Amino acid sequence: NTSTDSPEKRTAGIAAAGLVSSGMLVGLGTGSTVAYTIKELGRRVREEGLDILGVVTSYQSEMLAIEAGIRLTTLAQHPELDLAIDGADQIDSELRAIKGGGAAHTREKIVSVSAKRFVVIVDESKTSKQLDKLVPVEVLPFAKEPVVKKIRELGGKPQLRSAVKKDGPVITDNGNFVLDVEFGVIKEPEALALQLSSIPGVVGHGIFCNVDELYIGNKDGSVKVITR
Ligand code: A5P
Repeated sequence: NTSTDSPEKRTAGIAAAGLVSSGMLVGLGTGSTVAYTIKELGRRVREEGLDILGVVTSYQSEMLAIEAGIRLTTLAQHPELDLAIDGADQIDSELRAIKGGGAAHTREKIVSVSAKRFVVIVDESKTSKQLDKLVPVEVLPFAKEPVVKKIRELGGKPQLRSAVKKDGPVITDNGNFVLDVEFGVIKEPEALALQLSSIPGVVGHGIFCNVDELYIGNKDGSVKVITR
């Protein structure tokens, strides 16, 4: 949702666009923060002749990138990207993040691990000492009940994400369901990430342990950069 203007998100989003130069293959994340990056990259394509190819992570980022005039490619054509930029729902001081508030985390993770450098952009409200937000888990509809059982065995409380303007569950861009799972404070995100990945039927989960750099936007226009 990009309708509410956020100076902090804009600051972070535009700063990260500054990392992009001509000739780069760039992963374009999903959400309201990276929307500022996509728009800024589009402006540079039009006004400065910036010559890049983008790889999108969702229908939403595809539409934004097309509107911005960014040329697009696919991982099939270009499996190795120079840089990926994306938002997050929560991120801790060791740069471990929870993503998937917009249900795009599976493609976001594929794109982010395909990039040599993965930069996350947030406003200050997303930073936290520990990860304790709901963890989005994309599941194959066929496997929903067995996955729910396995997640409960791991100590999680899963809830099927339901759609707002439709009766029934949210369907992802990949045709799957999303479980939002409460784990309380996640003491070992790397371990939980592996456990979730090993459940048959889990297509992707929102714990990201591959962030290289974090850009935190402040209201005064400054940006704090944390590098792994
Ligand atoms: C999309 O599914 C998410 O992973 C987003 O990247 C994340 O929710 C951040 O979104 P905002 O920038 O809109 O907060």
